[in-house]
Amino acid sequence: MAHRSSAPESEPEIRFLGYLAEFDTTRKLLAACNQIRQAGYKKTDAYTPFPVHGIDGALGIKRTKLPFLVLGVGLVAVAVGIGMQWYVNGPTEDFWPFPGYTFRIGGMPEWSLPANIPVTFEIIVLLSAFATFFGMWAFNRLPQLSNPLFRLDRFKRVTSDRFFLMIDSDDPIFDETQTREQLEQAGAIMVERVDHDMSDAKLPGFLKPLTVCMLCLALLPPALIYRARGMTNPEPRLHAVPDMDWQDKSKSQTVSPLLEVAATTPTFLFGDGRAMRPDVAGSVAWGELSTDDRFYRGYEPGTFPTADAGSDENDVKPEPQWLTTFPDEVEIGDDLFKRGQNRYNIYCALCHGYAGYGDGLVTRRAMSLNIQGKGAWTQTKSLHDPAVVAQPVGRLYDTISNGRNSMGPYRAQIPEADRWAIVFYLKALQATNTAKIGETTAAVNSVDAVVAGSKNTDKDFGERE
Ligand code: HEC
Repeated sequence: MAHRSSAPESEPEIRFLGYLAEFDTTRKLLAACNQIRQAGYKKTDAYTPFPVHGIDGALGIKRTKLPFLVLGVGLVAVAVGIGMQWYVNGPTEDFWPFPGYTFRIGGMPEWSLPANIPVTFEIIVLLSAFATFFGMWAFNRLPQLSNPLFRLDRFKRVTSDRFFLMIDSDDPIFDETQTREQLEQAGAIMVERVDHDMSDAKLPGFLKPLTVCMLCLALLPPALIYRARGMTNPEPRLHAVPDMDWQDKSKSQTVSPLLEVAATTPTFLFGDGRAMRPDVAGSVAWGELSTDDRFYRGYEPGTFPTADAGSDENDVKPEPQWLTTFPDEVEIGDDLFKRGQNRYNIYCALCHGYAGYGDGLVTRRAMSLNIQGKGAWTQTKSLHDPAVVAQPVGRLYDTISNGRNSMGPYRAQIPEADRWAIVFYLKALQATNTAKIGETTAAVNSVDAVVAGSKNTDKDFGERE
């Protein structure tokens, strides 16, 4: 007899999983399920080629608890979303151990729930989706890498015309002979023992070292980056796209690029030796198309001071000759007044106040922050300030167009005609304070006309678009 190597083969670990009963109709399967449930079995499962109505009830399967899990995670997401935003925006300068950012923007409150709803909503959606997806996996004990039932030839018909009922061997009342008998009595065509060779369920041997290898390799790039950041390197840096790093270009206000450096005279790309090209003849700069200084800029044509006038630091900056009357394009009347009021309430009232006393909402909030030492806001000017009342309309127009001191320009938001309308309304506002009895000006007349024409004055004054 040949001498065999005595190395013992590792015993395959076989586990008895339970009985699989086969049925040929759904009716029989349902009846069997009912019997088995009534007999007190809990660890059962049915396999059918198509959904069978009533099988959940017959097997006594309870409704899934997944919705409760998702609800719980959703509530946690609310706390996370709100908490995170409160933390980064909120008043947490002294917050231990990491202070938040304490954003202060335009006088807005540091903590405001409505602004935090969208982000919170998104986080709820994200975390709930994860809870649903992974919760379903966990409840179903997925992933299951191998299913012993797939090894049974008989079980293959589960996708066409056979119905199966499985009773797990770890059910408390499972008994090898009795359970088999019960299944046969319940009408099974066939009852098969299911054994599971546990070595089947093992991951292929190479997978573990491979995973470890991949993880180690994945650590390599971050490690290299970390190392590179912490050291100096005399080598020139790598240029991945040299064409972009060294492209032919010339910066503004420099000399023209050289074509060649001849022995005596260099040859420039541009004959005039400048890198920047002058405007093509006839081109018009943005905003310069309009030549009508009165309407577009608010001063008498040709009175704009030259660039070097008043350049001495101590000189008063010379101003153009501002218009004292409205330009011809502006049609004085009630419509202008109404338009001006509407635009003023939209663009100016937030700072200057509806009546122009420099007490708009933004101003009030900002000034209260000033008092707390948290802001440096310039008090918004009252438009009834004698210095402002004395200003010609052209200068008011210019203030709206280009801003003044700490007030920003509004030319990008408000078209010229509307700026004039605002100036007209401004004059009317001022007239409410300065007009003498019996005095008539276009602005005062318009106030009178509009007030007389509107049924509800208060509402009209507060009107917004
Ligand atoms: C964001 C707030 C804000 C808005 C909006 C605003 N202003 Fe002002 N305005 C100011 C502040 C602040 C000053 C004072 C500037 C200074 O003296 O430094 C000022 C000053 C003025 C002055 C006086 C300028 C001078 O000669 O000293 C006028 C006139 C004026 N604003 C008109 C307007 C009009 C008209 C609008 C609407 C188009 C408007 N403002 C919108 C903040 C605002």
